[in-house]
Amino acid sequence: VSDKKVAVVGLGYVGLPVAVLTARKGFKTIGIDLDETKIKAINEGRSPIEDKALIQALKSKPFVASSSFDSISEADIALIAVPTPVKNELPDLTILKNATVAVAEKLPPKSLLIIESTINPGVCDEELIPLIEEKTGKKAGIDYHIAHCPERINPGKVPADAVAGNNQDINFGLETINRVLGSNSDKGLEQSLAFYNAILDAEVKPMASIKEAEAVKVVENSFRDINIAFVNELAMSFHKLGINIENVIDGAATKPYAFMAHRPGAGVGGHCIPVDPYYLIEYASGFGFEHDFLRMARKINSGMPQFTVDLLQEALNEVSTPLKGSTIALLGLSYKSNVDDDRESPAFVVKALLQNLGAKVVAFDPHSQKSSDVDNLDDALKNANAARNYGT
Ligand SMILES: NC(=O)c1ccc[n+]([C@@H]2O[C@H](COP(=O)([O-])OP(=O)(O)OC[C@H]3O[C@@H](n4cnc5c(N)ncnc54)[C@H](O)[C@@H]3O)[C@@H](O)[C@H]2O)c1
Repeated sequence: VSDKKVAVVGLGYVGLPVAVLTARKGFKTIGIDLDETKIKAINEGRSPIEDKALIQALKSKPFVASSSFDSISEADIALIAVPTPVKNELPDLTILKNATVAVAEKLPPKSLLIIESTINPGVCDEELIPLIEEKTGKKAGIDYHIAHCPERINPGKVPADAVAGNNQDINFGLETINRVLGSNSDKGLEQSLAFYNAILDAEVKPMASIKEAEAVKVVENSFRDINIAFVNELAMSFHKLGINIENVIDGAATKPYAFMAHRPGAGVGGHCIPVDPYYLIEYASGFGFEHDFLRMARKINSGMPQFTVDLLQEALNEVSTPLKGSTIALLGLSYKSNVDDDRESPAFVVKALLQNLGAKVVAFDPHSQKSSDVDNLDDALKNANAARNYGT
């Protein structure tokens, strides 16, 4: 049990499991968020996120949540996990900057500030550290230490009732995923390494700088976006060539090295993969470098809802049914299986495209009831001329 106090700022898909983990590992944990509904739920022992492990863990009220930043003044470590979205394909750091200033104002001397939000290289050194100094007069490495440890959590991949061996991601829970971190002071690196080694059962690799740690995360998610774009492009090409893409990927996947199977789909969703590449694209563009490859991947993946609708229209033509006036059951709204997160989900683009073509769309996802048009599968399928399932 540690006598250190940790304040986790931003209790979402990242911050909430992190706060649960730090509390379980014996840190005196406080959770801070601006969303009063979320705070109320957490303090009443309910999880604001549909996740079996979180629902179970929060029942015992492992930490207290608040919308006040006052308790930061007693924290040894303040960890920020607020959203870093894009607006019109451009990074929007407003939320992170606001949260950072609010935290920095209360940071006690010698404390450690950790940024877990996904950011492009340069954000800590070139934006956050100068901003903190401007607003509070506090200097990094002297008044406080700063580290960046990009989060790698993979929500929804480990159902609570999963049995080891039947889920390939069973070993990649928050606690057991290897991490990288960077700091710009020896003390910051030492303190943040000690913290993550205390809460994780995984390798924590120190990087030579904060900038490298920031770059690791955008590279990981850009890698995924590019690989998905590649198979999506193949899916569109092979459709014309009359070759079954899934069979071909299964075949290629028998190669034991230098091939990694990715699957085509209706697009890429979630708060990370369709968002993070824009952070690198924009930062590099400020230095006069154009990331053509990343832009192309974004373009291909963003075009997949249209291709999906084209395929459906073709299939309906085969049975002499016009899309206009048809009822389409749209099954699956969250961005991937077993999560309630439907941010940036291509399913909504598919829905809008179908509606623009005069189809009646009945959407249903048991994990995303708030965005569903009906509350059960039977009602979604009733009267449907076609059903489209986005689950994998
Ligand atoms: N969701 C993922 O799977 C995932 C994985 C790895 C990294 N990330 C990164 O982690 C960061 C957080 O993502 P998320 O999915 O947890 O977001 P989220 O929207 O689920 O949660 C963020 C929380 O921050 C709160 N918040 C907003 N402004 C605040 C402020 N000024 N002060 C305090 N709280 C504030 C919101 O109310 C919300 O509860 C992002 O940078 C994201 O790219 C997310």
